[in-house]
Amino acid sequence: MGLEGNVCVVTGGSRGIGRVAAQTWAGAGATVVILARRKGPLQETAVALRAAGGKVHDVVADVSLEADCDRLAAFLGDLCGRVDLLFNNAGVVHPVKPLHELEPTEFDRVLSINLRGVFLMTRALLPLLMARPGSQVLNVTSGLKAAAGYGAYSVSKSALDALTRVMAVELSPRVKVNTFNPGWVRTDMAPDAPTAADTLAPRLLAIAEGRVEAGEGEEL
Ligand SMILES: NC(=O)c1ccc[n+]([C@@H]2O[C@H](COP(=O)([O-])OP(=O)(O)OC[C@H]3O[C@@H](n4cnc5c(N)ncnc54)[C@H](OP(=O)(O)O)[C@@H]3O)[C@@H](O)[C@H]2O)c1
Repeated sequence: MGLEGNVCVVTGGSRGIGRVAAQTWAGAGATVVILARRKGPLQETAVALRAAGGKVHDVVADVSLEADCDRLAAFLGDLCGRVDLLFNNAGVVHPVKPLHELEPTEFDRVLSINLRGVFLMTRALLPLLMARPGSQVLNVTSGLKAAAGYGAYSVSKSALDALTRVMAVELSPRVKVNTFNPGWVRTDMAPDAPTAADTLAPRLLAIAEGRVEAGEGEEL
């Protein structure tokens, strides 16, 4: 299988796009570590993927907490000592309301997960990514960059694009850092989207196998 021997980390791997990524990469033979805040859904996903033959580990962690990111790094250090692909996918969109109605704590929460969480997780796993020349970091961005009602979310994803560019120039060529824009796909976050999330599987597999460059032709 194409990813045999690879180690992939999927933040927000319990459902939605993260679950599709975990299923795809585990199905191609990778060892996949999924994480999310809520234990129940995370374990359910891990059990289902293992039942299908996947080498899947689940770790309850919040990407916005430095201690959780460091704990995950320690877990991975003991497990295998390296990471081939970090999928920074965990994200939140709510509350959806005009910026002037947002509580400062609500604004901070979205930024702390969607932006700071990517910084914290990548920082914590960097020694493990460096252990694998050609490893990849994929930061899940969005086309929503200036949408009414989505102020904190739009700001977080715009800033994430900038964070990705800085990471890319600082870490290349040892680690390849790119955005991944999934488009509008049906998940708990986007229940009205017209396209099923599992249609992303072929693209996710091609990127992980290095057959296509992540970010290629992406609208940011
Ligand atoms: N769906 C779309 O159309 C779409 C479009 C563009 C971009 N995106 C982006 O794609 C990513 C995934 O979205 P989705 O639609 O799959 O969302 P989703 O179905 O709501 O899933 C979000 C995942 O992230 C986890 N999560 C949330 N906060 C977390 C935290 N602080 N620490 C760790 N895990 C956390 C959730 O589990 P817990 O709640 O248990 O933590 C869940 O596993 C997000 O970054 C989103 O912005 C989605």
